[in-house]
Amino acid sequence: MLRKPGSKRRTRRADQAGASFLTLDIGTEWAKAVITNQAQRQVLSAGYARQHLGDMDGGAIANIAGVTETVSRALREAVSLADAEPQLCLAGIAGELVQGVVSSITSERKRPDVPLTLREISRLAWHTVAQAHMAAKEKTALQSGIRNPHVELVDTALIEIRIDGYRVSNPVGFRGKHLAISVFHTFSPLVHVRAIESVVRSTGCQLLGIVAEPFAVATCALPAEAYELGAVVVDIGGGSTDVAVLEKGGVVGTKMVAMGGRAFTRSLADAFSLSLDIAEELKIDYATGSLAAEQAEQVRSVIDADMKVFVEALRLAFSDLKGAGTLPTHVYFCGGGSGLPGILDLLDHPQWLKQGFFTRTPTVVRLSPGDVKSIQDPQGFLQGFRDVTPKALATQGARVLADRFQEGTPSFTGIRKGG
Ligand SMILES: Nc1ncnc2c1ncn2[C@@H]1O[C@H](COP(=O)(O)OP(=O)(O)OP(=O)(O)O)[C@@H](O)[C@H]1O
Ligand SMILES: [Mg+2]
Repeated sequence: MLRKPGSKRRTRRADQAGASFLTLDIGTEWAKAVITNQAQRQVLSAGYARQHLGDMDGGAIANIAGVTETVSRALREAVSLADAEPQLCLAGIAGELVQGVVSSITSERKRPDVPLTLREISRLAWHTVAQAHMAAKEKTALQSGIRNPHVELVDTALIEIRIDGYRVSNPVGFRGKHLAISVFHTFSPLVHVRAIESVVRSTGCQLLGIVAEPFAVATCALPAEAYELGAVVVDIGGGSTDVAVLEKGGVVGTKMVAMGGRAFTRSLADAFSLSLDIAEELKIDYATGSLAAEQAEQVRSVIDADMKVFVEALRLAFSDLKGAGTLPTHVYFCGGGSGLPGILDLLDHPQWLKQGFFTRTPTVVRLSPGDVKSIQDPQGFLQGFRDVTPKALATQGARVLADRFQEGTPSFTGIRKGG
């Protein structure tokens, strides 16, 4: 973990290194609380609570009091199952206005014979913040229409380090003259960050850090070849779809759009004059193949109409991420919304090639929590598509704690906001 230069090392009791910690995935549809044992890297429990309608908006908190109450229910469930009261918490962040920015910097070292230290790399990494901050402000201003918006840095992770042109995964101890690093920064509007901080405070835990959710999935849930060949990660939640792109082993961009599974539920409620709860049940029955053929056909026609809108949302996210190039052709889906039949097939269409998004039809995989391998879950608390993100956040939490307590080599991902 990189620490902001000059920031004081926090002194903690050594036993906290092995203690349990909490991760919170505050989703639009579900608040998910996971308790993990740091020493054993094992999930101890998970608690879920459904959000009240209107408390979340497209991945962001819209009602702090309401979300606080929902999170406390999820946490109570997790605490009662784990019989542990974590003191530290890592929270996920998602939503339309969360910006991922990559910036690069090079430095000519005055004393190439001196071995590199984490401190030297941290110092250089922090020089990229100002440039990335400007870029995030510009993007947010464009998206929100607000001039000079206040965006805050929430997370910083090193994605590439080269010494004299050689790519290294852990630069500590190397000697060399030319140091080049690329850093991935996550920024978010201040209001969004403070709302998450406030909810975390209400749990009684100290905040370990805030990590962009698609970043967590992209760095914790993919097979080794994805880091070699590049990948796109698409987390379809209830209110937002969060996309991350990995290239050359690191996340190079994230983009979130405000459409997820709830949009399909809303259309079903409208089309059949149902309450949202009943429409949700109908959608899940359709997804799990529990409807009679005739009813399934009626539901399909409503869902198909929304798929056309959803494709546009994906196109928006993909256009932003691909820039002038194309996207990697390995696409990994997760999130509860990825369970909807047909949603993964949306990428199997020649328009994506014609319009220059991919060089060939992408291979599509739906991730499961078992793909997040560095945390064990022997009791099987995390099993569904919706659980990939909270398990990835738990992995990030373990990495941040390990870095903080200097266990093994630094992970160079999920670098906490300094200070
Ligand atoms: N088997 C399934 N088939 C289709 N949709 C499903 C299935 N299971 C859950 N969903 C949908 O997944 C959505 C919730 O997923 P998830 O828990 O990942 O969202 P969230 O994290 O709360 O929201 P967000 O990430 O947008 O903030 C709901 O819209 C729900 O209807
Ligand atoms: Mg989610």
